[in-house]
Amino acid sequence: MKKIVALTGAGVSAESGITTFRDSGGMWEQYDVMEVASIDGWRKNPQLMLRFYNDRRKQLEEVVPNAAHRILAELEKDFDVTVVTQNVDNLHERAGSSKILHLHGELTKARSSIDPDLVVDIGYRPIEWGEKAPDGSQLRPHIVWFGEAVPMIGTAADVVATADTVIIIGTSLNVYPAAGLVGYADRKASIYLIDPNEVSCAGRNITMIREKATVGMEKLREILCDNC
Ligand code: OAD
Repeated sequence: MKKIVALTGAGVSAESGITTFRDSGGMWEQYDVMEVASIDGWRKNPQLMLRFYNDRRKQLEEVVPNAAHRILAELEKDFDVTVVTQNVDNLHERAGSSKILHLHGELTKARSSIDPDLVVDIGYRPIEWGEKAPDGSQLRPHIVWFGEAVPMIGTAADVVATADTVIIIGTSLNVYPAAGLVGYADRKASIYLIDPNEVSCAGRNITMIREKATVGMEKLREILCDNC
């Protein structure tokens, strides 16, 4: 079976109603990224950060996967598909994708604030200030913040290196190390980029599909499944 790796970002979930970060009206126009998404922010004002992610988690319960998530999951019938996502939502899981690497963590999990490997499922409920992890430390969102290492990046790079086809969907490719993953693709791999806006990805031969994720994935399915 041919291998597909999908590198997804906030844009794949935009049509489900989750705001992206850097588009006009995006999350980082409404909030100071360093206050709500950095390890320094956590040290300065953990309660503000708990509220920020509690709100994101509550919203996640109210939205559903869109056709782009679903088509990616359906491609598993004909391809060995791995999703490498920067998103912290669970819409790929809920659409039925079975192999997903969350580079930046997961909203529905929490972890110890001193041991990154002590992770617990919390579903959609809020994390309270004063709520303890099993090791007695404050429970915090299981999110990789600015200023922290991205533990899954090595695994993700290995997966990208073995792909016959790489699909980039809905990421501005602004945030490293995730943005550098496409550089690990084999020289013979086909690379497609789905985004309604221009995204620059220098140094690779990429087929651009200038569409929103749902329309772009429908078009790409036709291209990929010519022989399915
Ligand atoms: P960005 O907000 O930077 O980029 C979103 C991309 O999605 C842009 O290129 C948009 O043009 C595109 N887009 C918008 N609507 C779309 C649609 N309907 N279909 C397809 N594409 C669409 O989001 P990311 O690149 O995912 O990290 O951001 C990366 C990281 O920055 C996030 O994981 C988050 C953020 O700060 C942390 O918080 C640690």
